Amino acid sequence: MVNYIPDEKVLEVRNRADILEIISEAVRLKRTGKNHLGLCPFHTEKTPSFTVSPDKQIFHCFGCGEGGNVFSFLMKYAGLSFPEAVRQVGRRYGINIPRRSLTPEQKKGINQRERLLMANQEAKTFYQNALMKTSAGRNASEYLRRRGINDVIIETFALGFAPDGWRALTDHLKRAGFISDLARSAGLIVLNKQENGYYDRFRNRIIFPIFDLGEQVVGFGGRIMDNGEPKYLNSPESPVYNKRRILYGLNRSRQACRRSGIIHIVEGYFDLLTLYQHGIENTAATLGTALTEEHIRLIKGHTEQTVLVFDADEGGIKAALRSCNLFLQAGIDARVLVLPDGHDPDSFVREFGADAFKSAVEKAPGMIGFIFDSAVDQFGLSIEGKIRIISHLQPVLADINDPIARSLYIRELADRIGVAEHAIQEKIRQSSGKKGPDFDPDTRPASGKKREAITGRAYKLEKLIVAMLLQYPDMIPDVEQSGIINRFSDQQLRTVGQQVIKNKQIPGVRVPDLIEMTNDPDLKRTIASLAMGDDDRWSRKGCLQLITQYQNISDTRRHHFIEGIKDAEAAGDHKKVAQLQQQWAMKQKPKKHEAVGME
Ligand code: GTP
Ligand code: MN
Repeated sequence: MVNYIPDEKVLEVRNRADILEIISEAVRLKRTGKNHLGLCPFHTEKTPSFTVSPDKQIFHCFGCGEGGNVFSFLMKYAGLSFPEAVRQVGRRYGINIPRRSLTPEQKKGINQRERLLMANQEAKTFYQNALMKTSAGRNASEYLRRRGINDVIIETFALGFAPDGWRALTDHLKRAGFISDLARSAGLIVLNKQENGYYDRFRNRIIFPIFDLGEQVVGFGGRIMDNGEPKYLNSPESPVYNKRRILYGLNRSRQACRRSGIIHIVEGYFDLLTLYQHGIENTAATLGTALTEEHIRLIKGHTEQTVLVFDADEGGIKAALRSCNLFLQAGIDARVLVLPDGHDPDSFVREFGADAFKSAVEKAPGMIGFIFDSAVDQFGLSIEGKIRIISHLQPVLADINDPIARSLYIRELADRIGVAEHAIQEKIRQSSGKKGPDFDPDTRPASGKKREAITGRAYKLEKLIVAMLLQYPDMIPDVEQSGIINRFSDQQLRTVGQQVIKNKQIPGVRVPDLIEMTNDPDLKRTIASLAMGDDDRWSRKGCLQLITQYQNISDTRRHHFIEGIKDAEAAGDHKKVAQLQQQWAMKQKPKKHEAVGME
């Protein structure tokens, strides 16, 4: 990836940025001493182990091992590329990073994600213009007005219009210098059957740009204005558009979600727009796709309470039940609002007003209550009905990972349908042996496991020493002098240690800068994890002991090696001798690029 943002700009942005402020927008954090703690957005957990250090300007999750500086966070959390992350933070702090002043050389170097986003941005503007400034757009404006959407909403959500005809956008993008292949990858244009030309994907439709949390256009939705089919057309997935992790409108509504502590999850574009226009801004839409685990993590980062709003039709109830299962498995509470027959949030609010909607939300049952109610509705309370309710709910209950929550729900169900609690419990025990949970809330990434598997005292000491270098830089000269870093057997730790030593002269080089210097995400995580910690625990004396300890252990290892070689010689095993010697040599020889600064 070519980093076409000048280094000094990157530095300026990073120095200005406050990681706490930025992460706080995505994760609810509580202060604990010097650090702030919250539920990790990168893995499912119930006890907070995600740590942000405002002093060090880094984050680290003790659960899954994720970690880094402010840019790594945004890259991972919002799926941004490095330049996007820098831009986003820059925008926030009023640091302008010009986009257009690229030479053709630089343009070529920009990675594909960036180019796709630029094409989307161009298309968004094109559709907006078509809606507001062309006569063809009048029909579309009229349609929006009929549906009660005002100009503020049109502006806020950058709504647009895709002209009829086949090549309006295709030609426009070409003129603007975007190659067809790129526009096709973005899902904006489609290759024709003869495979000799392209045409616009969206034609004669109202356009809804879909933004990610970095305010970048990642895709589009388009609604037809009459009864034609399909009613909605959406962009296909692309390197910038992952449907599993995008919630429509969240880029606009996140502040309101945070302020109110509640988010409404609705299904459609118009549901969201109408609610927003009526002052119910804390809403996001799933766009007709099923809610995913990723969505839930996203939601969790913004609010405490979720209200799932569904239509009363069969599809709506099914979708609600599916979503509830996911929330239950993730151990997150939600309430379910099923609107009266024939209404969706859009039509409900327009007919009854925002207050009616709000009071319906207040009365909405918890999701378990909802699940039980729908089972009772479906099967009735006859003896057979009760038996069927229990077997129907058995997998749902068995999937709940938190045993306490599970037993509370079982009690609730028992009360509700008048069946002994232990009978239900027994039934669930029978089933849970057969089927594992869909996902394990404590799943850690494989690299974490691998890392932990590397045991041994030496490795532990190496980790401690690097942590010491990062947290207690006073010791850098002593460590350098001892030369122990070059003896490290863990290559990653050796690299980090050498980086610290190499950069010691640069005043003010801090951990986030070190994280910046490497392109290896694994290394970034390691640095963040080792830098996080209570820096008051270090004393000079303890540190010197640590160095001596490592020297001893490394001498012992060396001793063992030499013994091994001697033994092999004595046994006349020349192959083994050569092998051991080679191994030893490998261990001793620092790689060329690592040797810098060690003289
Ligand atoms: P309006 O009729 O415009 O009010 O739409 P709606 O949101 O009430 O539609 P509906 O409840 O049928 O669908 C909810 C959401 O599912 C929509 O907002 C779309 O995101 C999606 N959706 C609906 N119909 C289609 C379709 O035909 N194709 C695709 N891809 N998505 C659809
Ligand atoms: Mn509707």
